[in-house]
Amino acid sequence: MTKQKKKSKQKKKENNGDAEALAKQIQQTTLDETRRRREAERSRELSRELCASRHDGVEWCEYEGEVNLPEVMRLVDDDLSEPYSIFTYRYFVKNWPSLCLLAKIEGETVACVVSKAEVENSQLVAGETCYRGYIAMLAVNNTYRRSGIGTALVCRSIERMRAMGCAEVILETETTNTIALSLYEKLGFARDERLFKYYLNGADAFRLCLPLAREDFVDDGLPPTPEAFRQLSAAPPPGERGRSKSDP
Ligand SMILES: CC(C)(COP(=O)(O)OP(=O)(O)OC[C@H]1O[C@@H](n2cnc3c(N)ncnc32)[C@H](O)[C@@H]1OP(=O)(O)O)[C@@H](O)C(=O)NCCC(=O)NCCS
Repeated sequence: MTKQKKKSKQKKKENNGDAEALAKQIQQTTLDETRRRREAERSRELSRELCASRHDGVEWCEYEGEVNLPEVMRLVDDDLSEPYSIFTYRYFVKNWPSLCLLAKIEGETVACVVSKAEVENSQLVAGETCYRGYIAMLAVNNTYRRSGIGTALVCRSIERMRAMGCAEVILETETTNTIALSLYEKLGFARDERLFKYYLNGADAFRLCLPLAREDFVDDGLPPTPEAFRQLSAAPPPGERGRSKSDP
């Protein structure tokens, strides 16, 4: 074999290898995306089931105004290590009263969840604006714990965020708060990252994330079309979106 022929054979082999690697990479990306969507769908079903479950004697209410503020503050201040100022509470409850939900028993507020939903540039769909939900505070009075009230409040909040168009819900919790971690992970939240010394007391946090299924997504269980592969491979990685080539 001539030297040139050998070279071209080698080149062909390399090209084939590159193409195979690229195909594998595209396939993996597609599988990850499908898995993410299936997990989101599963957590959505679970959330619906739990929302439907009844708690005798519990009244589920929305934040009505300043009259509720002292009870929300008392519940949260009693149980969370992070000290929040009244301005932080007001920031949430005044801007997103429909995402501040209370559980009452015989007129007494025994639990609350405080959340918000804001516009975020989506990392999921290039160029599309979407909302991201954030759970800021969750507390249940000691006497009423372990009866599903915390879970039900979080589910109700998530359902509202979904209805507002949120593509995901995030929150932080102390890495040592195994009860909260268990509650959230049962609902499908996954650990996204560890935030070192995140809290004022020096404790680390886990950021948890729950992707929400898009209303228009139909998972028919079939492999994606070649067109879907092409679109995936053409999409720049999340960190690169919106950057021009001349950017550093
Ligand atoms: C975390 C908290 C809100 C949970 O509320 P709750 O109403 O008791 O929770 P639920 O009854 O819905 O329990 C949900 C899951 O959490 C876990 N959990 C709840 N209490 C638990 C306990 N005492 N021990 C172990 N796991 C527990 C379980 O996995 C439970 O599911 P299961 O009952 O099917 O086993 C409540 O313990 C609390 O107010 N803690 C102090 C404040 C706090 O940590 N907030 C979270 C900050 S992010």
